[in-house]
Amino acid sequence: MSNKWRIVTTASYAPARIVTNDDLAAIMDTSDQWIRERTGIRRRHISAGENTADLATQVADRLLKRAGWPAQSLDLIVIATMSSNACTPSTAAIVQGRLGAGRAVAFDLSAACSGFVYALSTVARFLDGKRFSRAMVIGSEVLSKLIDWHDRSTAVLFGDAAGGVLVESTSAPHLLGESLATFGDQAASLSAGGTAPSPVFPGPVAKLQPFRMNGRAVYRFATHEVPRSIEGALTTAGLSLEAVDHFILHQANIRIIQQVARRLEQPLAKFPTNIADFGNTAAASEPVLLNECVEKGLVRRGDVLALSGFGGGLTSGTMIIKY
Ligand code: ACO
Repeated sequence: MSNKWRIVTTASYAPARIVTNDDLAAIMDTSDQWIRERTGIRRRHISAGENTADLATQVADRLLKRAGWPAQSLDLIVIATMSSNACTPSTAAIVQGRLGAGRAVAFDLSAACSGFVYALSTVARFLDGKRFSRAMVIGSEVLSKLIDWHDRSTAVLFGDAAGGVLVESTSAPHLLGESLATFGDQAASLSAGGTAPSPVFPGPVAKLQPFRMNGRAVYRFATHEVPRSIEGALTTAGLSLEAVDHFILHQANIRIIQQVARRLEQPLAKFPTNIADFGNTAAASEPVLLNECVEKGLVRRGDVLALSGFGGGLTSGTMIIKY
C-alpha cells in the first residue's frame, strides 16, 4: 500500500428538502424530544427524486472545480455506497460517464457506514504515482429509498447526502496508519436492501427489504469497537491519542460519539459533529463532516485526523491521516 498521497480538496452535497423531527412525528408514533435525546438528530435531508448517482455527480463537479482538475485527468473513481442506483451499472460508472472521465477506472464499494474509510484505503493500494496518480473518492447515499416509514425504530435515524475528496500521489507520506475490521458473525444486526430469489419459476422480481436493525447490539458494538479501532490505527502510526487533532467519526448517534470520547479520555471538543442536521448518512457522513470542518477552517493543513467509520457488516475502519 502506498502512504504517499494527500487529500487535495473536499466537497459535499445534500438534497434541498429538509425533514424535521416534528415532520416525522406527524406521520409516526415518535417525538422531537425522543429523537433528540436518544440520537442527537434534529433534522435530515431527504431526496425529492434525486438518486445516489445524482448526489455523487454534484460532489464530483464541485471537487473538480475546486481543484481545477479536468475530468480526463482522473485515473480512478471509487464510490462507497449501500444505496447504489442499481446492482449494475455501478454508481461510480454512471458518474464517470457523466463527467466524461474516460481514463478513470470506476467501481463501487459496499461497506455501509465504514464505506468511506474502506474506499480510501482501497484507493491507497492503487496509487502508484504512475498509472494511478489522481483519484476521486465519494460516499453517496439515498438511504430514504430503503426506509420503512412505518418503522419508527429505524426511520428517524437516516438521511440522504454525499461527500467526497480528491487524492493524489505525493512524495511525502500523509497516511500515517490504519485499522480495518469486519465482523460477519454479527451480519444480522443491521441489514438493508436485501433481495430474495423467487421459489417459483418463472417468479416475480422481489422488492428490496428495508432497514432492519438491532439498535442495542449495534450501539454496544460501536461503543466498544470504535475506541479499539482508533487505538489500533494509532499503534500502526506509532502515535498517541494526544497527537490526533480531530476525530472525524461516523455520525450515527451523538451518544455513541460521547461514549467513544469518554472511553478514549479525549476532550469532546476534538470530536466535531453534524448529526443534528444530517442524521446518519452512512458512507457519506465522514466526508460530509470533513468538508464542513475544512470549510469552517477547523481542519487545517498539517492537522492529524482520525477518520473512523463503523456499521453494517458489521464493520469498522479507522485511518490516521495528515491533512
Ligand atoms: N420514537 C419513540 N420511541 C421509540 C422510537 C422512536 N423513534 N424508537 C424506539 N422507541 C421506543 C422503543 O419501542 C422502546 O420502547 P419500550 O421501552 O416501551 O420497549 C424505547 O423507545 C427504547 O428503545 P431502545 O431501542 O432501547 O432505544 P435506545 O436508547 O437503544 O435507542 C437507537 C435506539 C437510537 C437506535 C440506539 O440503539 C442506536 O443508536 N443504536 C446504534 C445505531 C447505529 O449506530 N447505527 C450505525 C450503523 S448504521 C449503518 O451502518 C447504516
